[in-house]
Amino acid sequence: MKTLTIIKPDDWHLHLREGLVLKNIIHFTSEFFGRAIVMPNTKTPIKSVERAISYKKSIVEALPESSKFEPLMTMYLTDDTDKEELINGFNNNIFFAAKLYPANGTTNSSHGVKKIENLYKIFELMQDSGMPLLIHGEVTDSDVDVFDREEVFIDRELFPIVKRFPKLKIVLEHITTAYAVDFVQENNIGATITPHHLHINRNAMFFGGLNSDFYCLPVAKREKNRIALRKAATSGKECFFLGTDSAPHLRKWKAFCGCAGIFNSPVAIASYLKAFEEENALENFEKFASLNGPNFYNVPINKEKLKLVSRSNKILEFIDVVEEKNIVGQIKPFHAGETLQWQVEGIVN
Ligand code: DOR
Ligand code: ZN
Repeated sequence: MKTLTIIKPDDWHLHLREGLVLKNIIHFTSEFFGRAIVMPNTKTPIKSVERAISYKKSIVEALPESSKFEPLMTMYLTDDTDKEELINGFNNNIFFAAKLYPANGTTNSSHGVKKIENLYKIFELMQDSGMPLLIHGEVTDSDVDVFDREEVFIDRELFPIVKRFPKLKIVLEHITTAYAVDFVQENNIGATITPHHLHINRNAMFFGGLNSDFYCLPVAKREKNRIALRKAATSGKECFFLGTDSAPHLRKWKAFCGCAGIFNSPVAIASYLKAFEEENALENFEKFASLNGPNFYNVPINKEKLKLVSRSNKILEFIDVVEEKNIVGQIKPFHAGETLQWQVEGIVN
């Protein structure tokens, strides 16, 4: 049986939600990942040190006993972010990074930034203090086609930021285009790549009728982009690293309003491995999953190791959300009902 042992990975982009959903899903990440950058787009976004501390506490309380998982908290930037709050939070190790959502770009982003130039003073401080800026890179103008929003954002917003703040540590999150792949490499920034963008192109959203199971933001694009993302992720290049963007939505809401987000944390490692194996690049998986992220963020690599086994792995149709032993909701995972060929065996020391 084929096996692979790698340094324990980290998830550099994750949505954990709150309350019952958080309690039911956290273990999928905490079991096999050392750390995760937790996105701040909770119903009331994480805009202050105080909220970050209480959100982190609720995450830690939801962890399985004796878990060593470390949530890395982010601050949600707005047009009137308080610079003292941001930099103090970073210097006191409350915030690991700040997240920029263009207003109304995605789930719970109505508080996001309306005019990015208003943040230039803040970017200057972040550049000076070494605080990373994580970007949801899509414009939100209604006259820009939804499939072009990442490219237009790069030209209109990101390019000026990169030129003006050459030392700012920037991560373009969940990239979806060949254009972004090239831009990241040419401009000395980092990028996360999700498992779903390695497997689906935009056809998936229209397969068998309008299919919200594959609707996420940024939306999957044409096939040539998926091919470019696979090449980038499996290249081993330092600027590309693992960020699942796992984003749980209860089935009833997803079916009702088609909210954006794909829940992949139960299958993330197996899903990435499928793509790496198909690209004949299993030898680069450890770089993407466990080394490039820590190197980019200047944090130590994890000490533990993860053993992975090539063995048939049937993925559940639904993950139950349970409250006091009653099933109160369900979430559909990515690859639901499929059989993948890799499985996580467990932690080895
Ligand atoms: O598809 C997405 N879902 N993209 C995001 O940027 C946010 C996320 C969510 O929070 O559900
Ligand atoms: Zn996200």
